[in-house]
Amino acid sequence: MRVEIDFLVVGSGIAGLSYALKVAEKGKVLVVTKSKADETATKYAQGGIAAVMYTPDTYEKHIQDTLIAGDFLSNEKIVRMTITESTERIKELIDWGTKFDKNDVGEFDLGKEGGHSEHRVLHHKDSTGLEIERALLSQAMQHPNIEFWENHFTIDIITQHHLGEDVRRSSSNIECYGAYVLNPKTNKIHTVLAKTTMLATGGIGNLYLSTTNPEIATGDGIAMVYRAKGIIENMEFIQFHPTSLYHPGEKPSFLITEALRGFGGILKNKSGKAFMEKYDSRGSLAPRDIVARAIDNELKSSGDDCVFLDCTHINANRLIINFPKIYAKCLSIGINMTKEMIPVVPSAHYACGGIKVDEFGQSSIHHLYASGECSSTGLHGANRLASNSLLESVVFSHRASLKAIEQIASIKIKSNVPDWNAEGAVLNEEMILITQSTRELQTIMSNYVGIVRSDLRLQRAMDRLKIIYRETEDLYDKSIISIEICELRNLINVAHLVLKMGLNRKESRGLHYSIDYPPAKK
Ligand code: SIN
Repeated sequence: MRVEIDFLVVGSGIAGLSYALKVAEKGKVLVVTKSKADETATKYAQGGIAAVMYTPDTYEKHIQDTLIAGDFLSNEKIVRMTITESTERIKELIDWGTKFDKNDVGEFDLGKEGGHSEHRVLHHKDSTGLEIERALLSQAMQHPNIEFWENHFTIDIITQHHLGEDVRRSSSNIECYGAYVLNPKTNKIHTVLAKTTMLATGGIGNLYLSTTNPEIATGDGIAMVYRAKGIIENMEFIQFHPTSLYHPGEKPSFLITEALRGFGGILKNKSGKAFMEKYDSRGSLAPRDIVARAIDNELKSSGDDCVFLDCTHINANRLIINFPKIYAKCLSIGINMTKEMIPVVPSAHYACGGIKVDEFGQSSIHHLYASGECSSTGLHGANRLASNSLLESVVFSHRASLKAIEQIASIKIKSNVPDWNAEGAVLNEEMILITQSTRELQTIMSNYVGIVRSDLRLQRAMDRLKIIYRETEDLYDKSIISIEICELRNLINVAHLVLKMGLNRKESRGLHYSIDYPPAKK
């Protein structure tokens, strides 16, 4: 099937949907999403969305907190722009129907998380992402100009390469004409020709054995742009959330929101001793890179499997009212968090780098935008400040919508694009080859490319990756295309980028901490 559309959107989280709702006012939109429309990383976000709402908070304070958390590798112009636009974008989310919690005097009940100097995190109990996803999806599903293809997998974006032209890496002339999309039910690959394409495909957490991300987070957008020879940056900066519930075998790992530390929760070791003050004067509310490294160090030196978050000193009713989801989850595995400490470990959580975009979400490939976790806007630098990611998504999707609408009238559909060539693909190999390689890759990344790194470990991982890469490319060339093989290829491409950029960075900075380059004492 060949389809022509004004605006193609890949991904249905906050970035994809907030963009779709805006551009739908000016043309036909197709949202392609690889699972059910609400199965996105947005849905799993607990803590909330950071924005400046009231004094004593100021834009300047939020800007400084973001720059400090990012270890001064953020683009200050982008930080200033994003934060000064935060209040407007929050109003829009509310107009679309999102309900943020309010206090007794009717003001927003603002939470506090690691690295924030003020209370500024808007939330909906401990299910903020779920609430935002609900509101946006209900608007988008009713919109006459928005069509959804759920359970469809985007294999690759279409560029001059598919017309037989030679495309050089990072060239400034690459153009995007849409994407090839697989319907796994029929095994048909559709050619979707679009005037503009938005990638909002989320993160890469499934590079690791333990992640808070849903299983859809396989770096698809980043890998597609890399294969299309667009610019990717900052992939070495992978954020490990310090506190996911220690419950071996569970996937994804259940998040214990940082907002719980903002509410008074204290990190302790198994004998009940608080340890964070040893590492940072901000204690349990230091920025995430510092807390995750401190926990890693505690675990390595004690040999314990987990540390603990102690909330037992907090009023039990307040805990249950504000964190009902976490309370219920802990109870389901036999822990009453009002009386017992919660066992926690760090888990892969967020990719700070990705598809390089400008202040309008435009990638290095013409007519191709990116927003949300798959993009690299310059906001996060070497470490993302908690709850800045949902904010980044709405700011950049809004800006991208302005640019896409401005340009759409002058863009023509490229009609001479060939359909997907499946010739020669006959092998339907046992799934075991794919699942085993995926597990091997996740084991390599977890053991060699975690919170603390070294050049030797990164190089060892790169050497192992080359073998998996060759085997997988061979299998891909011979196989009937499936979501599983495409996801494995995407993860391998992304792992390559993480390792390459990690090896190139000859310093410890933010989330990239290498024992070969100890940070200078501050
Ligand atoms: C959390 O609630 O701790 C996660 C929020 C975020 O990753 O920004």
